[in-house]
Amino acid sequence: MEKKELLYEGKAKKVFATDDPELLIVSYKDDATAFNGKKKGTIAGKGVINNRMSNRLMDKLEQSGIPTHYVRELSDRETLVKKVQIVPLEVIVRNVSAGSFAKRYGVEEGVVFDRPTLEFSYKNDALDDPLICLPHIYALGLASEKEMDTIKAYSYGINRFLKDFWASCGVTLVDFKIEFGRLPDGKIVLADEISPDTCRLWDSATGKKLDKDRFRRDLGGVEEAYAEIMGRLEAADRG
Ligand code: TMP
Repeated sequence: MEKKELLYEGKAKKVFATDDPELLIVSYKDDATAFNGKKKGTIAGKGVINNRMSNRLMDKLEQSGIPTHYVRELSDRETLVKKVQIVPLEVIVRNVSAGSFAKRYGVEEGVVFDRPTLEFSYKNDALDDPLICLPHIYALGLASEKEMDTIKAYSYGINRFLKDFWASCGVTLVDFKIEFGRLPDGKIVLADEISPDTCRLWDSATGKKLDKDRFRRDLGGVEEAYAEIMGRLEAADRG
C-alpha cells in the first residue's frame, strides 16, 4: 500500500492518504505532549511500542466482537486503517480513581470502584477538551442517541476485555481514553489508538506506573516503563 499525501499531523501521529479512498496510513511519532500541548517532549521508541501495542489490542478486540478501524500493520511505526469520520468525543472509562477524577472530586488515587465509570469530553483543543454530558452532545449534534448507545455498549465491552487481558499480565487497567469513528455506511467502529499514552496501567503487585503519567508527572524511567508494559503484553501473547 503506497503512502500518499500527508492529510493531518497530530500530537503523536501523522495520517497519510493511500491509493484507496477508504484506507489511510497512520504513522506513530516519538513526540509526547501533555496538558493540551503545554508540556512537550520525546519518548524514544514510543511510536514503535504504541503502534505495535494498539494493533495487538485492536486485533484482540475485533476477535472478541468489537469492530475497529484496524486493517494491518505495515511496519514498525505504520499501520493501515479504515478511513473514518471521527466522532469528536474522548470516551473515558475508569475502574480506579486517578488523574482528573481524583482531582475533581478531591479523592485519593487508587480507590477501586464497584463498577466502572464512563464519561465524555468534547474534542476541542481551543476549549481544552471540556467534559460533556449526553444532552449537550445531542444539542451540539456531535452524535445521535443511537450512536451514543452503541458507543456506551462498546466502551464497557472494551473495558471488560482489556481489564481481564491486562490482569493476566499482572497489570491493573486503571482508566483509559478511546475514540470512535463512522465508516462511510455509518457503522461505528473503535478508532485512534490504545497505548500507554491513552491508558493508566499500574503493576498489580507494586502499583508502579507503566504509562504516560511517568512523563506527565516527571517521574523518570519513561522509556523503561513503555518497554516494560510492551514486554508484559508480548509475554502474555507467548503464553
Ligand atoms: P484524566 O484522568 O486526565 O481525565 O485521564 C483519563 C484517561 O484518559 C487516562 O488514561 C489518560 C487518558 N487521556 C488521554 O488519552 N488523552 C488526554 O488528552 C487526556 C486528558 C487523558
